[in-house]
Amino acid sequence: MNEKLMEIQESALKALKSAADLGALDEVRVRFLGKKGEITAVLRTMGQLPPEERPSFGQAANQVRSFIEDEIRTASQEMERKKMELRLSSEAIDVTIPGKAPEFGHAHPLSKVTDEVKDIFIGMGFTVAEGPEVELSDYDFTRLNIPEGHTVREWTDTFYITEDERVHLRCQTSPVQIRVMEKQQPPIRVISPGRVYRKDEVDATHSPMFHQMEGLVVDKGITMGDLKGTLNALVHKLYGDDLKTRFRPHHFPFTEPSCEMDVQCFVCKGKGCRVCKGEGWVEVLGAGMVHPKVLEGCGIDPREYSGFAFGLGLDRLTMLRYDINDLRLLFENDQRFISQF
Ligand code: DAH
Repeated sequence: MNEKLMEIQESALKALKSAADLGALDEVRVRFLGKKGEITAVLRTMGQLPPEERPSFGQAANQVRSFIEDEIRTASQEMERKKMELRLSSEAIDVTIPGKAPEFGHAHPLSKVTDEVKDIFIGMGFTVAEGPEVELSDYDFTRLNIPEGHTVREWTDTFYITEDERVHLRCQTSPVQIRVMEKQQPPIRVISPGRVYRKDEVDATHSPMFHQMEGLVVDKGITMGDLKGTLNALVHKLYGDDLKTRFRPHHFPFTEPSCEMDVQCFVCKGKGCRVCKGEGWVEVLGAGMVHPKVLEGCGIDPREYSGFAFGLGLDRLTMLRYDINDLRLLFENDQRFISQF
């Protein structure tokens, strides 16, 4: 074969070996096989050969051309294969790796007890009312028969929003009573669960934020008997028919008469234990007959209508229900704790 052709073949092979990517391969193709490439250039010199040598030279040149073509094709196929291999390994999904188990939420024990109590009252014909947590002192105190300077204001004195002390975070759910009565004439039968705020230090039984559920019934001829019957029904539904309750006289400015209700300890059934601190009874709520002044202040005639109200501590009820001994556990929202109930 012509020496020049041998040289071209050699240098083409060398160039192919050092071509790093498909772009470089294409450069090799252009350099040797292109219109202005080395093979074409050599073919152009064919005219200088004696006529009898021309056919064999042409044949040899075509052989070198197809040899280089084949080499380029093989190299490019090899490059494509390597590229694909790399992609497959870098994008590989290891289906044997254990999956991430999704964590399911769990109803908070406080929500469970609240829902249960709500269901019981809804079953007795109550509806659920809501009131603002940022409340007017007028509703939280004055209109509940707690005038300025009343001692109750001292210990429930809470988080004031305005300097003139007219707006604060409510310290009880009782202002919802006023909000309901000023909008609705009797018959009224509502409950209202929600957050309340007081200046308490945090410990196992106190928190500056806790939960209450207010209840209010106003109609013609409502008596203390209705109060006792309704609240007894609640206790029996929550803890069973055989549990006894007792009503102790108490004082609340917005009810007259007022009482507190104790429930026979459902752990020891009255014998005295750790849960009831040896008493045999646990206090669960405050209640009473709505004070005539409160009714009057909302435009309801106390000579025509009477009512009862109650306020129960939902956190306390939850703690008793599940034998939880530290209130703080309810507010830490630790899944390990919450998912136990
Ligand atoms: N609001 C009272 C408190 O926070 C609880 C209460 C007592 C609510 C008697 C009432 C009631 O509606 O009649 O201590």
